[in-house]
Amino acid sequence: MKPNPCSMKNPCSMDEDAANQKTPIRKPAFKNYQEAASLGAKMWKDESLGTSGLACLSCHADHELLNLDRNQNFPHYVKMVGDVVTLDQMINYCMLNPMKGKQFGKNSKELTAMAAYYRAYRMQFMKEQRAK
Ligand code: HEC
Repeated sequence: MKPNPCSMKNPCSMDEDAANQKTPIRKPAFKNYQEAASLGAKMWKDESLGTSGLACLSCHADHELLNLDRNQNFPHYVKMVGDVVTLDQMINYCMLNPMKGKQFGKNSKELTAMAAYYRAYRMQFMKEQRAK
């Protein structure tokens, strides 16, 4: 096996030259996790995200229907989908079906924001479980 290129100086080192040569997945980037999660928090409440008049939290208030008690990582099998999905795919499935909206692009800030809030919402669930 060749040595890991990222443990050598180039091409993965974060010096300024190398960073400038990288191809971003989108622009502008989020500054930090909190920025992504707060955009996501707004979107999960938004009844105009799809066309059904529902928000994600119309069905998922109080951590309902998220199967968080199973403490699984993605990807996993989801009964409603009838398939094994990643979190991003699950978000897009709920966008297309119950929300009757459009899917988010795979590199979109929207999809990252939705997933970031999922993480915050799940952490809150775990914290509440521990307190019980
Ligand atoms: C009309 C109700 C409804 C709406 C609105 C809805 N969902 Fe869901 N969602 C469900 C149901 C029902 C399931 C449970 C699937 C199962 O267990 O088979 C689910 C499952 C999920 C899961 C995965 C659960 C698991 O097993 O890991 C995620 C993540 C999710 N929804 C996110 C969202 C997001 C994000 C939105 C908004 C874009 C949304 N949902 C809107 C009904 C809804």
